[in-house]
Amino acid sequence: MIPRQKPKSLSSVPAHPPSHLIETIPTLRVLFENELNSLLNFVHHGMYVKGQSRLRLTKWFREQARESLDHALDLGHVLHKEAAHISNYTVTPKACELDHTSPENVIDSIASHESAMVDQYAQLAQNARERGDLVMEAFAMNKVFEEFRHQIETSLMSRRF
Ligand SMILES: [Fe+2]
Ligand SMILES: [Fe+2]
Repeated sequence: MIPRQKPKSLSSVPAHPPSHLIETIPTLRVLFENELNSLLNFVHHGMYVKGQSRLRLTKWFREQARESLDHALDLGHVLHKEAAHISNYTVTPKACELDHTSPENVIDSIASHESAMVDQYAQLAQNARERGDLVMEAFAMNKVFEEFRHQIETSLMSRRF
């Protein structure tokens, strides 16, 4: 008869992230919060933007909101995998402070946000490269590319006004 295997004790589950990730986790948490912020901002813009281009902009904001959700879910997955507990995060969307009768205003705010996201993911990639963490570097570089694409799309959208 095969002896029954004892279930793994809960103490075998790492309570803390591996030491090489301790510096990365705060960055991942900030990015996670920023993506959730983007999601809420885009949803808000989609509801309140005014003017002749409202329909086109609403469609574009919805697409951007979906991409922010995908990015937030990817980051949440990485954080969870690394045994980092996500709690007490703060989401403070700025969309409600903007004048939605001026699409230029809204698009300018998005452009500076996308540019900040490129820089933050590039920083994550650089830190991962310095640690020799190829998987994290690839993850971050993929996001750099996507945020850069958002930057280009935002700049193309701004030229239409
Ligand atoms: Fe994003
Ligand atoms: Fe983006």
